[in-house]
Amino acid sequence: MTIIDQTRLPLEEKFLSSKNYRDVCEWIKSLRIRGAPAIGIAAAYAAALAAFEFGSKGKIDPRLDGALGEIHQTRPTAVNIRNILARLRKLDLSGKVVGDVFLGEAHKILAEEVDSCRKIGRFGLELVPDEAVILTHCHTGGLATGGYGTALGIIRAAHEAGKRVMVIADETRPLLQGARLTAYELQKLGIDFKLIVDGASGIAMKKFKVDLVVVGADRIAANGDTANKIGTYNLSVLCKEHKIPFYIAAPSSSFDLAAKSGEDIPIEERNPDEVTHFRVAPSAPWRKFIMTLMGANCRSAPENISVYAPAFDVTPADNIAAFITERGIIRKPYLASIAKAVG
Ligand code: MRU
Repeated sequence: MTIIDQTRLPLEEKFLSSKNYRDVCEWIKSLRIRGAPAIGIAAAYAAALAAFEFGSKGKIDPRLDGALGEIHQTRPTAVNIRNILARLRKLDLSGKVVGDVFLGEAHKILAEEVDSCRKIGRFGLELVPDEAVILTHCHTGGLATGGYGTALGIIRAAHEAGKRVMVIADETRPLLQGARLTAYELQKLGIDFKLIVDGASGIAMKKFKVDLVVVGADRIAANGDTANKIGTYNLSVLCKEHKIPFYIAAPSSSFDLAAKSGEDIPIEERNPDEVTHFRVAPSAPWRKFIMTLMGANCRSAPENISVYAPAFDVTPADNIAAFITERGIIRKPYLASIAKAVG
């Protein structure tokens, strides 16, 4: 399996390859591959690698079961990993080489996610006026999804349809997915954008007359409460104040109908170092040398302080104007409409 290391972007386009599922687990934990749909796809391929390694035949034997457990444990909030592993566990394995079955299913899942992104882009078009100013948070482009993007897929589809869009991209502290990855993809796509610090979203909404905010999701509960990158909830509240529609774009693999509300969604807490340190850019050789001496990070806060580092927050369903999925646009009342669309 080969991925581009997202932690190195945009300074370095470095590819990583491995046939060991443990490496894929490490890639997911360290965010070398990240974004809910992308880590779901990676989990499927990791499961296939584990099944080949253990020579599993006809059933999920105890060692493979343990490996699936390890893959499950990598990141807790994005439900895509859990949904996809549950899907693999339900496959008919009798008399078959499990690796072959899992690999076939992983290819299928990848193709479905690619198709979902395209459909999300098409359905989202009707919500984007011509000359729209669109604010987005974190990174929801091709690298984080099935190759076209979810929220960014809508922006991309609008751009391709000839609507003149301008994007305001939050940098997304602390790991800067917006600054590093959204800016990287938008620049490659030739879409007009401005990068802002997260705290500038209020003034940017006023100054640039933002028409809509669209973001992705890591887990959507049955009632529509949605976990997404930390800072998303704040944006939804700002949208209320400014009367701007706030949309979530996500494939059906990001829904968790077993979670009744946001209360049931586990929120990942990250290493406090991600908040107290800034990454040193590793592009130039001398910087790499300094990184080797100092470690990859530069401290920006005092030592021995208390830190709270949630990676996600939950936006209440009430703040969400609609969900854009590959099955169409889902509107309120969400309990019924979500169950109908993805149940
Ligand atoms: O911690 P990450 O970078 O994996 O988090 C991903 C997000 O929260 C993104 O905002 C995204 O919306 C969900 S995946 C397209």
